[in-house]
Amino acid sequence: MLTLHVLQAILFKNFALYETRTIYKIKKGKHNMNLILLGAPGAGKGTQATKISDRYGLVHISTGDIFRANIKNGTKIGLLAKSFIDKGELVPDEVTCEIVKDRLTWEDCKNGYLLDGFPRNLFQAEELEKFAKIDGVVNINIDFKLLMDRLCGRRVCKECGESFHVSTLNGATTCSRCGGELYQRKDDNPETVGSRLNVYNEQTAPLIDYYTKKGIILNFTGSEAPAEVLFEEIKAGLDQMTK
Ligand code: AP5
Ligand code: MG
Repeated sequence: MLTLHVLQAILFKNFALYETRTIYKIKKGKHNMNLILLGAPGAGKGTQATKISDRYGLVHISTGDIFRANIKNGTKIGLLAKSFIDKGELVPDEVTCEIVKDRLTWEDCKNGYLLDGFPRNLFQAEELEKFAKIDGVVNINIDFKLLMDRLCGRRVCKECGESFHVSTLNGATTCSRCGGELYQRKDDNPETVGSRLNVYNEQTAPLIDYYTKKGIILNFTGSEAPAEVLFEEIKAGLDQMTK
């Protein structure tokens, strides 16, 4: 049940609607398309989102980043989101859908956007259709055996949001891109990752079928290919789609 405080927060837009990477970087879109990025936790959505949004001039909207910004700012939405994120569960649909609906009215979305981590269940997908027109879905399939290590070893830059893996850091504690401090996400621990993967299987994976039936999905495999190689494949798929 949502508390009265949270409903008021939604109603009066008392939430922080910015993401670490995109707020200062509104670009003129080149392709004007609206995309969804689908994939299990750790599949590489955030990693590919940066590259895709740069290449196509799309605004990167990550619901996970929006929730983490709210947690950091101590908003009511942040307080609510934290109680679900820490357990690896989904934040209630009413809150999440309202945040995305509002974000998509911003001027920068007129040139196209990339939704990372939304929708995450059938309810959210159906709600999204009421306020957005989606042109394509990029789905990253991945071998689940890789995910526990990827996520528990992930370190994220506090400043620019770039992700690293401890195995390649050689003990470094700052970001090689911007010098920011690296931290470990609180939900990147074995127990929470286990719940996140269950939630993905039960609630998010059915969206692959949902968008396949709509004929707008592009499927990729993110298991073996390094991020740059995977991006080249995604780019080829999207270029073909926008021809
Ligand atoms: P969110 O922030 O969306 O997390 P997630 O879906 O669990 O996905 P991650 O961000 O952990 O992984 P990613 O796919 O972005 O992978 P990354 O590129 O970082 O959501 C967090 C929480 O918020 C949810 O659990 C939920 O509670 C809540 N929430 C969010 N959206 C919601 C919604 N719509 N409804 C309700 N609740 C919502 O890569 C992972 C690691 O792998 C990195 O270390 C990276 O360097 C590495 N890597 C990436 N690509 C490669 C590659 N090709 N080869 C080798 N390593 C790679
Ligand atoms: Mg991510």
